[in-house]
Amino acid sequence: MRADPLLELAAELLRANTREGYLAGRRHLFTVPSPHRYRFQWHWDSCFHAIVWAEIDVERAKEELRSLVARQTPAGLLPHIVYWDPRLVHRWQAPYLESSGLDWVIPGRKPRASAQMQPPVAAQALEAVVAGCANDRFLHELLPPIARHYRYLASARDPDRDGLVSIISQFESGLDFSPLYDREPGEVDPSPSRLRARARSAQALNKLCNHDPRLVFRVNPAHWEDVLVNSVYVDGLATLARLAARIGDAQLERWADTRARASLDALLDRCYDESSGLFFTLAGRREKRLAVRTIVSLIPLVVEALPPEVAGRLVEHLTDPSRFWARYPVPSVALDEPSFVPVAELRGHRCIWRGPCSLNTNWLLCRGLRRHGYHEPADALAERSRELVERGGFNEFYNPLTGEPVGARDFGWATLAAVL
Ligand code: GLC
Repeated sequence: MRADPLLELAAELLRANTREGYLAGRRHLFTVPSPHRYRFQWHWDSCFHAIVWAEIDVERAKEELRSLVARQTPAGLLPHIVYWDPRLVHRWQAPYLESSGLDWVIPGRKPRASAQMQPPVAAQALEAVVAGCANDRFLHELLPPIARHYRYLASARDPDRDGLVSIISQFESGLDFSPLYDREPGEVDPSPSRLRARARSAQALNKLCNHDPRLVFRVNPAHWEDVLVNSVYVDGLATLARLAARIGDAQLERWADTRARASLDALLDRCYDESSGLFFTLAGRREKRLAVRTIVSLIPLVVEALPPEVAGRLVEHLTDPSRFWARYPVPSVALDEPSFVPVAELRGHRCIWRGPCSLNTNWLLCRGLRRHGYHEPADALAERSRELVERGGFNEFYNPLTGEPVGARDFGWATLAAVL
């Protein structure tokens, strides 16, 4: 492990957040996002944990990814959440848990995994882990299940076959209560109980459909072609193509490469707004563009094949102090957006992703800045992210105006600050 006091603290936290679970007699290790609040295994958290683990202990990083794929569904989905310890699942959580409908109808049956997805970062995590492996054995083991997840998203989650993956719940976006998902996107000071009720009723409808995407797309108008999800998907496909080439899997390489190009074309075609120089998520069957300026609009920067002039416009927004370049970048909602709030609460109730910054999105943007040759803002972003953690500890979010920690403490993916 590289000598860095921050990386040592990161290792300490990830070790403390490590838990075990059993499946078919096999012991699995995973990292909980925060022992105080999130006690299961979350998909993209685990991918980010694996990226940091890879710098600390590559064998442990491999275990993180093995547990991530252990509960893959027969269709290929890698679930949003794996409930390794069902005793921690309480009935009152039912409206929030995205288990299949039956799990809550059959008495005594508890869900083992969510039936939904989260932003797919597994290919990027796999690439980070195999970079530290002496041979390709682990790549041969993990590439097939991870590739299957990307294929599943292409076949089950793109009902209009336009190349863009659709999410069927705001929780699948990874940015739960972003103002994008308000009844009128970008509401100012909405009531948190109304926001929750709305999310809950969409979840209830999904459960009634047993999370069958074909049914959900027909009966539930609450679905989105989300810019963050699709950007990390395109980046993931390009990564898959590289990994497939490394082990000579020409068929997977061709598929991933073709799909990456089609999805990027669709992002540019349908989500890019030339006049503002930003990307916007599309809502519902009518594909209404949600012109609220959130961090989601900048994430396409992570795509290596993004045309340089488009990347340049995103960097202008990112580095603008009146919009995204806060004292502590990068806020999850633009500073000049009326719905922006710097804390993780609304009217005293927890309501996340409406302004505070998070280190996983900083990681994505740093990756994008470096890929497009913007090393100076990338270094500045890395430095400020480290500062946040050095001052306030590993936290779920930070106030972008003051740097104060907000949300859950001892938070796993904040360790990314040590590897930016
Ligand atoms: C919240 C976040 C989500 C994250 C989860 C666990 O629900 O919105 O992105 O994966 O917490 O940390």
